[in-house]
Amino acid sequence: MKRVFIFLGKGGVGKTTSSASLSFWLAERGEKVFWFSVDPAHNISDIVGVKDLSQPKNIYKNLYAQEVDVESYLKSFLEETVFKIKSIYKYLKVSGLESIFDIMRLSPGMEESAILYAIYDRLKTVESDYVVIDTPPTGLTLRILALPNINIKWINALKHWRLKILDRRSMVAHVKGEDYLEDASLTPQDDKVIEELESHLDKMRFLEDIFTNRALTKKILVLNQDRLSLSESERILNTLRELGMDVDLILINKWGLCNITEDEINRVFYGKEKVVLPFLEHKFSLSRDDLLFLAEGWAERLI
Ligand SMILES: Nc1ncnc2c1ncn2[C@@H]1O[C@H](COP(=O)(O)OP(=O)(O)O)[C@@H](O)[C@H]1O
Ligand SMILES: [Mg+2]
Repeated sequence: MKRVFIFLGKGGVGKTTSSASLSFWLAERGEKVFWFSVDPAHNISDIVGVKDLSQPKNIYKNLYAQEVDVESYLKSFLEETVFKIKSIYKYLKVSGLESIFDIMRLSPGMEESAILYAIYDRLKTVESDYVVIDTPPTGLTLRILALPNINIKWINALKHWRLKILDRRSMVAHVKGEDYLEDASLTPQDDKVIEELESHLDKMRFLEDIFTNRALTKKILVLNQDRLSLSESERILNTLRELGMDVDLILINKWGLCNITEDEINRVFYGKEKVVLPFLEHKFSLSRDDLLFLAEGWAERLI
């Protein structure tokens, strides 16, 4: 993998359009590209006019596209989690475990986690050199970017307590004899919970490394020439900084449609690389040539 591109910005500013531009531009140069969407409201298929992108499909030269079905991902993610809970804690004979499924499904953070694992699965196995991710709305995307780091801290804390539990168990077993605790594991090496925590930790570290590696991952902030998208972009920039991340390029798309000045934009994004993209008027939908035209002048800077 040579580059990962993540597009951020308010709804409707042109994130999907810009991710399409970049994907086609790279493919046009002969690069191997995987462009996927984790936005529950996909529209890659609308842009390229290809139906059913539930699996990666070769849509142009070496460009593959996929719209990840977040809902079914969430379902299988939950099923797998409940299955693991059942197999790890079977000795507890928990009653009513089925209801855990519904509780978890509606718990805060589940959608973010499912999307994060969907991203993980793709980044881990991708064979293309360039990966372009079309993201969901801002709030969700920022939480997804924040999750690996939060999870790493949580998992380390959980590991700490689990190791203490195993320690206590060993002491009990030493005094009362190993049979006293029946099947309960005594060492980290044969403990399923530790194994599970380690496996999540590996995944989260993998994602955190990718999200924070500025040579590999380029974050592109898209906005329009209006005050609302400018304010939202400012918040995105601030949140990214709190996460120890930054924006690599700012695309001011649909120039000419509204009227805030370049000075106002420069005040917010002082010292940042900015590119202005014209509003292509009278276009019912954008053709591949339009998308390639929109990529001129900035796509090259990102590779
Ligand atoms: N530079 C542009 N000129 C004309 N129309 C554009 C331009 N950029 C985006 N659009 C149109 O604006 C709409 C929203 O773009 P989209 O990429 O779906 O936004 P987002 O993914 O940020 O919600 C689409 O209809 C798209 O064709
Ligand atoms: Mg979109």
